[in-house]
Amino acid sequence: MHDPLIDGGVIRKLWVSEADLYREHLLRLDGESRRNRFGGGVSDEFIRSYVSLSTGLDAVTHGFFVEGALRGAGELRPLGSGFAEEAEAAFSIEKPWQSHGVGTALLERTLLAARNRGYKLLHMACLAENRRMQQLARKFDAELTFDFGSVVGEVEAPHPTPLSVIREIMEDGHGFATAMLEVQSRLLRTA
Ligand SMILES: CC(C)(COP(=O)(O)OP(=O)(O)OC[C@H]1O[C@@H](n2cnc3c(N)ncnc32)[C@H](O)[C@@H]1OP(=O)(O)O)[C@@H](O)C(=O)NCCC(=O)NCCS
Repeated sequence: MHDPLIDGGVIRKLWVSEADLYREHLLRLDGESRRNRFGGGVSDEFIRSYVSLSTGLDAVTHGFFVEGALRGAGELRPLGSGFAEEAEAAFSIEKPWQSHGVGTALLERTLLAARNRGYKLLHMACLAENRRMQQLARKFDAELTFDFGSVVGEVEAPHPTPLSVIREIMEDGHGFATAMLEVQSRLLRTA
């Protein structure tokens, strides 16, 4: 299954071992995007600690890759312990790749993953002035509630169906095959 993305970009899940790619991507965000991603200005040190703490088996992060470089990410993390019914989602796309449909594609994949994990409610925390994220969430019928200058978008995730599970597996298959090609081409380049 192919995503109609710019410049031959692909979306696939990040592996736990790829935390360094995620960290470098977040560090490359320009000031405004970084502020929007984290709900305020944060230091490089904060981002480094965030990635080492947040990279765990319970988080599902989809990455948007262009020529092997991670240019965008959508993170999904259960809230609470045990069988969580609520999760939090956060998105980051590097400036030159913004407003080309990448956020929409990452949100679609994140919603599918949320659905298949049985999350009923997805929280998206973003600043009140972040119209783009709100527009994006509205495309998926998010209910938005204003709260102290920030917006929490809550998307009802429908129940998993065999079809939705198969769709996720197929999309992972595509991502995995492409990832293997990327690894091979990187190996060839360094050989
Ligand atoms: C917010 C963000 C995830 C959106 O992703 P994106 O790839 O730029 O967005 P898309 O191209 O998929 O566009 C989504 C919708 O936003 C709106 N939009 C796009 N560009 C816009 C712009 N420059 N101004 C206002 N709205 C805009 C449109 O309604 C668009 O839907 P449409 O194309 O069907 O009309 C991305 O810009 C980003 O990472 N920003 C910095 C970090 C951030 O704000 N994260 C969100 C907090 S969790």
